Amino acid sequence: MFCPTPWHTLKTVPNLSVELLPGHKRGLSFSNPVMTASGTFGNGLDYAKIFDIQRLGAIVSKAITLRPRQGNAQPRIIETAAGMLNSIGLQNIGVDAILRDIAPVWATWRVPVIANIAGESIAHYAELARRLDGAPGVSGIEINVSCPNVENGLEFGTDPRSASDLTYAVRRETDLPLLVKLGPNVTDIVGIAAAAADAGADGLTLINTFPAMRIDIQARRPTLGWGSGGLSGPALKPIALRMVYQVARSLDIPIVGCGGIVSAEDAIEFMMAGATAVQVGTATFRNPQAPLDIIDGLEEFMQREQILAVREIIGAALPAQRESQTNNAGGVAAGHGPQSDGAITGRALRPG
Ligand SMILES: Cc1cc2nc3c(=O)[nH]c(=O)nc-3n(C[C@H](O)[C@H](O)[C@H](O)COP(=O)(O)O)c2cc1C
Repeated sequence: MFCPTPWHTLKTVPNLSVELLPGHKRGLSFSNPVMTASGTFGNGLDYAKIFDIQRLGAIVSKAITLRPRQGNAQPRIIETAAGMLNSIGLQNIGVDAILRDIAPVWATWRVPVIANIAGESIAHYAELARRLDGAPGVSGIEINVSCPNVENGLEFGTDPRSASDLTYAVRRETDLPLLVKLGPNVTDIVGIAAAAADAGADGLTLINTFPAMRIDIQARRPTLGWGSGGLSGPALKPIALRMVYQVARSLDIPIVGCGGIVSAEDAIEFMMAGATAVQVGTATFRNPQAPLDIIDGLEEFMQREQILAVREIIGAALPAQRESQTNNAGGVAAGHGPQSDGAITGRALRPG
């Protein structure tokens, strides 16, 4: 009688590796899909002293600006019922110090580091991209579009035109893998995602924090020094997940899911919604090793479910066919369906 070998007795180790940007000439290969989120992991150096950061899929730096920034008035961080609020104000040491003191250390690491950039004008972002392009230790750039544009006071990520202009200007300055990180405070995330994709983004990170606040009832004023801040953590997860799903079913561009991920199950949900990789942020404030625990949990899930390669789950919860031109994004993915192998390639199609 045929007696199959129980899967768990096989020597096969689940394959967690992902190629985030198969459409990019150099690509961005990770040993697993778990990254750290910008601003929640410093520049990685402190964490390197407490655990093996080389096990991470990738690290995203704190936002880098042209000049050093002191950040906003204290208090800058406060807990909420299901997450936390922050208004750090982009405190960082500036691009010169990054290139001089930090990037050379990144260059000695196996784990890829992606530089998150922020600016007050398109010219700032373009200059940052130019400076970082080709710097040893910088494997890619992530544009934080949730910053006010001093030229019109609006955030770059709140309308398709600004998102497109910004992405295009950065794209002109660098061949590095380019992720555009969008914020959730918009009515049409797919329209903005499509604009960034058309302007040259290789991938999208979804999402940044949601604008929010708390009031100090004794002092009768907003609790955060800056007044309001960004909500992150578990409260953000269902919102982020839906945005990942919406974009993944409409556009043909790799997605990094981010928002409230604290467990392997959360990460799996994001991947099934169409994310190729995930970022873990606020969870590391409670448990600095959360990203490693999530990697371990992912591997256990795959063993339990007999999944040989993690890319099998990418987009598993998406409809078999991306939506037709009748939806608000208007983009039908060319080539592969989202469940083919997760190797989502190509550009998004322009709406309308
Ligand atoms: C303290 C703090 C600082 C952050 N700084 C940045 C930043 O510099 N650049 C950026 O793009 N996102 C920044 N973020 C947003 C996170 O990268 C992430 O998008 C967001 O927190 C949602 O993920 P999470 O719920 O896992 O934290 C910051 C978040 C927190 C909590």
